[in-house]
Amino acid sequence: MPEDSKDKIELNRLKNQIKKLRIAKEKAEIKATLAHTGKMEALYTMAGGIAHDFNNILSAIFAYSQLAINHISDPERAKIDIRQIQKAGQKASDFTGQIMSFSRRTGYNKIAMPISNVVKEALELFSSTSPETIEIVDSIHSSALIMADPTSIHQLMLNLCTNAFHAMAKTRGVLTVVLTERAITTPPPMFATLQPGNYLELTVSDTGHGMDLQTMERIFEPYFTTKKTGQGTGFGLALVHSIVKDHGGEIFVKSEPDKGTRFHLFFPII
Ligand SMILES: Nc1ncnc2c1ncn2[C@@H]1O[C@H](COP(=O)(O)OP(=O)(O)OP(=O)(O)O)[C@@H](O)[C@H]1O
Ligand SMILES: [Mg+2]
Repeated sequence: MPEDSKDKIELNRLKNQIKKLRIAKEKAEIKATLAHTGKMEALYTMAGGIAHDFNNILSAIFAYSQLAINHISDPERAKIDIRQIQKAGQKASDFTGQIMSFSRRTGYNKIAMPISNVVKEALELFSSTSPETIEIVDSIHSSALIMADPTSIHQLMLNLCTNAFHAMAKTRGVLTVVLTERAITTPPPMFATLQPGNYLELTVSDTGHGMDLQTMERIFEPYFTTKKTGQGTGFGLALVHSIVKDHGGEIFVKSEPDKGTRFHLFFPII
């Protein structure tokens, strides 16, 4: 082959390589921008939610303190107004407690334990208050040890079960809780981010109304809720997510509108 043809081929090869590198760089930049936009959106949702809830509480405090002043010559009536101010204060305090429990990164009391008992207890507590329209099926047998804070595991179970219950509130349905050991060598596509290792897998599934993709993408954001005001604050799954992460675990969700939802939680076995 003549020299200049060889040069041309080499030049084309280099051009293609540069093109590929440029495309890869652009892709990475777009991905980073999207991740940043998502985080900012989560932050706006949370800030908006906090401001909204505190505004409601402050309005109640302003209104009832004015009423208490108006009724000051009638102590019994003023007392009722002051009680309302106390109630609003209590609400604010519960609310900050909720935010703090979500944002706490330390303070867990982790011990090496099998979580089967905590999971069973939480499920029993839940089933004692759930309606007969919900059938509960469980298979909780593993006694593998993980480093866990029992209170947090309890909290996590109640949140997942409550969500399942809400999703099945309008229809009959089945809540299934499974605790099992899983050895992951090559993670299946659904759990692609899972590192190889031995895990305790907690699965909580329901046959409720499920979620569309848009909802699913936002469920772990603090303050994201599709429930009516007063029925949900949107903190449940954000808390579940932060507990799982603080336990060195991973959480995955599979859901389909009208079919149901399944949460998979993986905790590393010690
Ligand atoms: N099992 C489920 N089935 C269908 N949708 C769900 C399920 N779990 C969560 N979701 C969706 O995810 C949203 C966020 O859930 P999350 O638990 O964080 O908040 P919430 O239940 O709305 O309020 P909170 O838990 O603070 O009372 C819900 O509003 C709902 O749209
Ligand atoms: Mg919830």
